[in-house]
Amino acid sequence: MCARLIIMTLACALYCGCSSQDKPTTMPAATERRTPSSDGAALYRQYCASCHPDGGNVSDPSRTLRRSSLASHHITTADDIIRIMRNPISRMIRFDPASLPDHDARAIAEYILTTFK
Ligand code: HEC
Repeated sequence: MCARLIIMTLACALYCGCSSQDKPTTMPAATERRTPSSDGAALYRQYCASCHPDGGNVSDPSRTLRRSSLASHHITTADDIIRIMRNPISRMIRFDPASLPDHDARAIAEYILTTFK
C-alpha cells in the first residue's frame, strides 16, 4: 500500500517534471525557422493566416489584407505592411525583428500584395 503510493507519487513527479521541461523558455533562434528562399506563402500561413485566413480578418472585418481595403487605409507598399507588423494598430500581436527577421517580413508583405486582390 505504502510502496504503491510512493511509486505513484514518483511517477507523477516525473511526469510533471518532464512536461514543464518541454515548454520552451525562449523563442527559437530566428535562423532555425528561416526558410532558404523566404517562402512568403509558407510564412504567411505560419504567422498570419490564423487571424487573416485567405487575406481576411477574423476579428476586424474592416481591416482585411485585400488590396483595395489596404489602400483605403493608406497601406500600399511592402514597407507599409512591415511597419504594421512591427507596430500594430491595436489588437494585432506585434512581430519584432527577433522573432520575424526583416527579410521574412518582406517576403510576407510581398506575398500579401501579390495574392489578395
Ligand atoms: C492575433 C491575430 C492576428 C495575427 C496573428 C495577425 N494579425 Fe494582422 N491584424 C489583426 C487585427 C485584429 C487587425 C486590425 C487592426 C488591429 O486591431 O490591430 C490586423 C490588421 C492588420 C493590417 C492592417 C490592415 C488595415 O487595413 O489597416 C495588416 C497590414 C496586417 N494585419 C498584417 C498582418 C500580417 C502580415 C500578419 C502576419 C505576420 C498578421 N497581420 C498577423 C490581427 C492579427
